[in-house]
Order: sequence, then structure tokens, then C-alpha cells
Amino acid sequence: MSGKQKKPWGGRFRKPTDKMVEVFTASIGFDKRLYRYDIEGSSAHARMLAKQGIISKKDEKVIVKALKDILSDIERGSFAFKPEDEDIHMAIEKALIERAGDAGGRLHAGRSRNDQVSLDMRLYLRDEIRQITDGVAGLKIQLINLAQKEIVTIMPGYTHLQKAQPVLLSHYLLAYWEMFDRDEERLLECYRRVNIMPLGSAALAGTSLPIDRAYVAGLLKFPEISRNSMDAVSDRDFIVEFIFACSLIMMHLSRFCEDIILWSTDEFNFLEISDAFTTGSSIMPQKKNPDVAELIRGKTGRIYGNLIALLTLMKGLPMTYNRDLQEDKEPLFDTIDTLKNCLRVFTSMSKNMNFNRNKMLKDAAGGFATATDVAEYLVMKGVPFRESHAIIGNLVAYCLKKRKEIAELTMKEFHRFHRAFEEDIYARLAVESVVDARQCVGGTSKKTVLKQIRDITERKKR
Ligand code: ARG
Repeated sequence: MSGKQKKPWGGRFRKPTDKMVEVFTASIGFDKRLYRYDIEGSSAHARMLAKQGIISKKDEKVIVKALKDILSDIERGSFAFKPEDEDIHMAIEKALIERAGDAGGRLHAGRSRNDQVSLDMRLYLRDEIRQITDGVAGLKIQLINLAQKEIVTIMPGYTHLQKAQPVLLSHYLLAYWEMFDRDEERLLECYRRVNIMPLGSAALAGTSLPIDRAYVAGLLKFPEISRNSMDAVSDRDFIVEFIFACSLIMMHLSRFCEDIILWSTDEFNFLEISDAFTTGSSIMPQKKNPDVAELIRGKTGRIYGNLIALLTLMKGLPMTYNRDLQEDKEPLFDTIDTLKNCLRVFTSMSKNMNFNRNKMLKDAAGGFATATDVAEYLVMKGVPFRESHAIIGNLVAYCLKKRKEIAELTMKEFHRFHRAFEEDIYARLAVESVVDARQCVGGTSKKTVLKQIRDITERKKR
């Protein structure tokens, strides 16, 4: 029975671990994904111990070589991960002692699994944040490409999901560029707080051995070392913060997906997703469903769940390390896998959809989406806005009764509402001029949107 094997911590125990307990407490099934970082951290630790004269140069060589061998065994798939080894740290240490004998047994001086696991998580998260940031940056580039392509496409803008005012589709797309830009920034800020080296905090109090933490930080390219050992082994705020940043990215993707789902309905018919990115129904032969967008919207709930799981995990923990903290891993790993997947699939889907420009334009022109512009027309003729708002409200009611669009009214009809209307109202009412008139900073005119694109692309070059 595996439980009979001596544990590295087995000195004070007189009975073997119950098999059920072994399985219950093991994290190796999922934390094995940290192997590369665990080995990297251990090699740096070994080099520091030798530099400080805590172990010999010869032991250092033996340890570093054995760790390299273990790494290549794991990568080749010939390393056996066993639940009785509990977690990735013990599995690797055990293999190291098997291969390097006494020298291997000297490695764990001046550290504990408590600071080791924090180090591994930070090394791992650094890599993942870089990859996710690249994913977000890729999506932003795709949004700019789309905005350039759709620079003259006019669509109805909505508030309350009621038709509000015509806007450029490119303006809409760049709104998402802004959101993902902030998301990228948030990830980079989070990276700064992840990028702190905790090793040497040991179990919770530091160590009496003459270690050199700054040297380890240098080897592992950390610009900073943690200042308080109790904090370093017990907080996971850097993970919570990261999952929060991911939750916001998912929230933005999910909202975008909601529009894509709505827009691909027969009722809206603003866009068509390519067959390659949709699925059919097993019973209704005519169906073409936006499942990819729906699943991204659905998976957002999972990420929020992971965030709440982590916050709840932390809220009642006494200082310092508690085994509860092992439960930080699966929500984090799931968040990373899910988000990377969603970013990749969403970016590809966005390259595989076509906007129905004619339908968008037609809908933007109808439905009194230009009423605000007529009100603003009167303002420019000296009418107070509140008065003008009421006048145009009446005018819309009149149009509804007569089943006419505003642009279809005769000059005589306009004059029933206000004498200030002149022939130029017809030109102002063309949907293109309505959009083009919104030239204030942040507005939807072609000129402002092009400037926004220019500002973004120039900022990128810097
Ligand atoms: N597997 C553990 C975790 O993920 C590693 C640290 C265990 N430390 C301990 N003292 N039991 O948190």
C-alpha cells in the first residue's frame, strides 16, 4: 500500500497515511501543470544555497543536473505523477532525492512549500498574463481592422434596446477597442504585483540560514522581493486581482456576443456569421445558431464563479498559510484556460462574419432616429432646447399619425410646427449628414472616428 511509504514529512508519524486521506489531500492531479516553474525555482534556490556556502558547489551541480533530467522526463511524458506524492513540489523533490541522493536532500534548506507554492504560482502567472495580454492585443488589432473596413457603414445606435441615433459601425467597434484597451492595462498593472519574489519567506517566519533572496530574484528576473514573510506565504490577492481582470474581459466579450447574437437574428439581420462558426439544430433543418457567441456569454458565469470562489476561500483564513489555499489552483487554471480559449475563438469568429450594410443603413434612416438632429437644428435657429424638444415630440406624433418619416414632411407641414424651418432641413436630415455632424471629441462623425483610429495607431508605434 502506497500509504506505507515514508513521507518526506513522516518523521513524527507512527501510522501511515490513510489511502483516502492521501487521495483527498493530493493536488498533484492539477498542480502538476506548475512543474516547469517548480523546477526553475528549485534550480535558482540551489544556486543561491551554493553561492552562500550552505551547500557545496558539487551538490549544486548534481542538483541542477538532476532537475534538468526530471524536466525532460516530464516533458517526454515518462515521469509518473502519483497521488501519494501529494503535490508537484513533493513529487519533484522525491524524484530529485532518488536521482541525486544526499545532495537532493539538501535542497529544501531555507524554504518551505508555503513560499515555494507562492513562487511557482507567480512564475506561472507571469507567463500566462503575457500570453493573455497578447490575446487581448490581437483582438484590439482585429477591431481596428474591422473599423477601417466599415468606416462608412452607418447603423442605428440603441439605448434601452430602442432605436436611438444613427452611428458609424466603426464607432461601435472602437468602443470595444477602448474597453479591451483598459482590460490590457489592468492586466499589466496586475502583472506588477504578481512580479514579486516570495522565496525565502519559508514556512511563515523567514529562515535563520544566511540566504540571499535578492540573488534568487535576479536569477528568476523578479524586480522586487516580498517585504514580509507572513504576507508572502498567506495572501492570494494577486490571484484574486488577476481573476477579476479576467472577469472584466469576459464581461466585455459577453456583451459583444450578446449584440452579435441579436444582430444575427432574422429580425435584426445586421450580420451573418460564417457557416464555419455556427452550428445547426438536430431537429429544425432551417436553423443556423450562433453557439460560439452564446457559449462565450455562458462561460462568463464560470469565471465570475471562480472569482467568488477565491474571495470566499480567503475571507475567513487565519494568518498565515492554511491548506485551504490549495483550493486556489483549480479556479485559477480554469479561468486561464477558459479565457484564452474564448479570446482565441472570439477573435477568429470576428474575422468570419459579414455585416449587412444595407440593412443597417435602412434601419438607421427610419424610426425617427434623426429626431434629436431636428431638435438641434431648431436650437441653431435660436429656439431653446426644451421648447424645441417639445415641438419635435409633437412633430413625431404627427408623423406617426400620418405614417410618414420626418424627411417626408413638406415644407408646409414643417412650418405648422415652427416658422424657423427652411429648405436646408432636408439636407440636414440625410442620415449621412446626421452622422457627420457629430464632430465633437468622442463623437461618431467619420472625421472624429478616423482621428481616433489615427491616434490609436500612432500611439502603438511609440
Ligand atoms: N499543495 C499545497 C498548496 O497548493 C502546497 C503547500 C503545502 N504546504 C503545507 N504546509 N502543507 O497550497
